[in-house]
Amino acid sequence: MSALRWVRAFAPASVGNVAIGFDILGFAVEALGDTVTVTRVEQPGVRICAVRGVAGDLPTDPKANTAGRALLALYEALEPDCGLEMLIDKGIPLGSGLGGSAASAVGAVVAANALLGEPYDRARLLTFAMQGEAVASGSLHVDNISPSLFGGLVLTVGIDQPRVKQLPVPEGVRAVIVHPHRFLATREARAMLRREVTLSDFVWQTANLAGFISGCYTNDLEMIRASFEDVVIEPQRQALIPGFAAVRSAAMAAGALGCSISGAGPSLFAWALATQAPAVLAAMRAPFIRDGTAFDEWVVDMHPRGARVVASG
Ligand code: HSE
Repeated sequence: MSALRWVRAFAPASVGNVAIGFDILGFAVEALGDTVTVTRVEQPGVRICAVRGVAGDLPTDPKANTAGRALLALYEALEPDCGLEMLIDKGIPLGSGLGGSAASAVGAVVAANALLGEPYDRARLLTFAMQGEAVASGSLHVDNISPSLFGGLVLTVGIDQPRVKQLPVPEGVRAVIVHPHRFLATREARAMLRREVTLSDFVWQTANLAGFISGCYTNDLEMIRASFEDVVIEPQRQALIPGFAAVRSAAMAAGALGCSISGAGPSLFAWALATQAPAVLAAMRAPFIRDGTAFDEWVVDMHPRGARVVASG
């Protein structure tokens, strides 16, 4: 147990799926994130004092809150001789497709773990944070939790005993992200998906995932470009994102290595070489400028960093 009274942790946003790795592949977006402060108190149990920032209207009942549920999972496993109070500062808009629920859950367990003397390694923290993600989307998926926790581009294999692999991102590649200011519920974007996949789509999708990962390991940009296509999920979800097909083809014409939906949407992302990123960004933002939709945009690298303690006292 540490002598600290409180710890504050920052957990970055993330892009889930990365087109071809539905529920298993994601990368961290350090440009924005959630900040969670956990304070040691005498009264046993877990409480949420407040949720502030860009998404203040969230439940403060720990069981109904992603960060609360994650912190409860850690608390119940460790049974510390104190209670924990949490303050959540949301930097990631709700329903943006940028891993906001995951970041809050990750921030909570990283802050609490530091406060309680680092009893758990990151692999165990992942399993606690996953419990929080289930509150938001109704299912255990790790493609936002893992990159937010570990940083960079991350593949996660398994749910009960998740194995995490940080993948190399070829030198000079950037992620271009556009977030239109619309709300899209992950739970609904999952509920709409067909439960079956045809054999030919299965072959195509697995080839693309394998091609993408081998391209990352071998710096083969043409392999990445050829593989960067989700033939299963994106064709079903693009109806939720008006104009998506046009954005994707404009981004590809501008030199993107690939362009797809960020998580469940409505944010969109592309990969491009740094030299082509400005043209890709211009192509991706054009429809939102045309139809007057407010949006945010980022061009970021994907160097691994991940969630971390930013202050304590
Ligand atoms: N993999 C999840 C999905 C991410 O696409 O539903 C949700 O943020």
